[in-house]
Amino acid sequence: MKIAVIKETGADEARVAATPDAVKFYVAAGHSVNVTKGAGKKANFSDADYKDAGATISATNDASVKSADFVMSINGGSKALVTKMKKGAGIFGLMNPTDHPDYAKACAKANVTAYAGEYIPRISRAQSMDILSSQSNLSGYRSVVEAAAIYGRAFPMMMTAAGTIAPAKTFIMGVGVAGLQAIATARRLGAVTTATDVRPATKEQVASLGAKFIAVENEEFKEAETAGGYAKQMSSEYQKLQAELTAKHIAKQDIVITTALIPGRPAPRLITKAMIKTMKPGSVLVDLAIERGGNVEGAKPGEIVTTTNGVKIVGLLNWPSRMAADSSSLFARNIRNFLPLVTSEDGTYAPDWDDEIIQGCALTKDGEVVHERLL
Ligand code: NAI
Repeated sequence: MKIAVIKETGADEARVAATPDAVKFYVAAGHSVNVTKGAGKKANFSDADYKDAGATISATNDASVKSADFVMSINGGSKALVTKMKKGAGIFGLMNPTDHPDYAKACAKANVTAYAGEYIPRISRAQSMDILSSQSNLSGYRSVVEAAAIYGRAFPMMMTAAGTIAPAKTFIMGVGVAGLQAIATARRLGAVTTATDVRPATKEQVASLGAKFIAVENEEFKEAETAGGYAKQMSSEYQKLQAELTAKHIAKQDIVITTALIPGRPAPRLITKAMIKTMKPGSVLVDLAIERGGNVEGAKPGEIVTTTNGVKIVGLLNWPSRMAADSSSLFARNIRNFLPLVTSEDGTYAPDWDDEIIQGCALTKDGEVVHERLL
């Protein structure tokens, strides 16, 4: 099949959906690959690297996708780009479908099949294609490293001839993929680490990483996980108890990383301005949920805000893009693992519509929007 790899156009997007290594693999498998000029530049992959791997380079995204059967992107390109694609072709990316329903409509109109990476079902067979996990893991890591750089003190305890430095106290709220990696990273840096979540399964995971688990463990907590492994929206009574616990704990923390999300809903508000007022000057709050509305009151998208009591609230966006070489490599490997589902035995583009992974992530089919979340 003909594969196209586009250059992302978002200002804060440094990732690319295929690395030169991935291209080499596709070419060896008999596919042809067209990469847009400069597609990998911000992730430190040069056009020469792609050429050496067997790709041809096109000057523009329009030219790359024109005759492609399958387009690889980080963010789904744009409504305009899909109109330039061949009818019946497919495009893969993180499409944020419910926030951009017009995008799926444009794909349907252009008779292009859109595969939304975030909708790949989280079943065992699809773990190697799980882009949400591969990217969240890096976000969790980076959030702690960034917090450590912003924090004006050391993370580990240091006993020196000039005196002892106390270890930083780090609190991770939300222990999904990003939170687990944040705990592991904070521990590696030597912080005294605590963590919380509403899902009981996380208690053991937190302990296994050497951190202390803190939560309101009442009857509601025992039922807080959905069959799909996600958090439920908690009752207002639970939220009140959680806020009281957080308020007490947070005053003693130096670093707080929040990652709490509930699928299909705005991020839960876990930290209020009143809580932040009790924190010490120089403390750092990183809100990784900012793109879904944020867990921290006063966090601003894309900014680092300093409060009047000297607390820094980090609302930076697109954390995986800050580690573009690694995040691109993992993203590329996720797509590579997905590709067999849209490839026939003779190597042509032929999605297997009987496969639950394809059914789970395809937004459009034969000129129609078909995904249940968009109907
Ligand atoms: P997510 O990004 O949807 O949410 C992050 C975390 O925030 C979750 O742990 C959630 O329980 C927590 N949270 C929500 N509301 C909260 C609140 N009010 N207070 C504190 N924490 C709150 O989660 P993510 O990272 O996508 O993982 C969700 C689950 O899916 C996990 O159990 C994870 O292990 C599982 N998973 C399964 C995979 C598979 O089977 N293929 C792959 C990746 C994740």
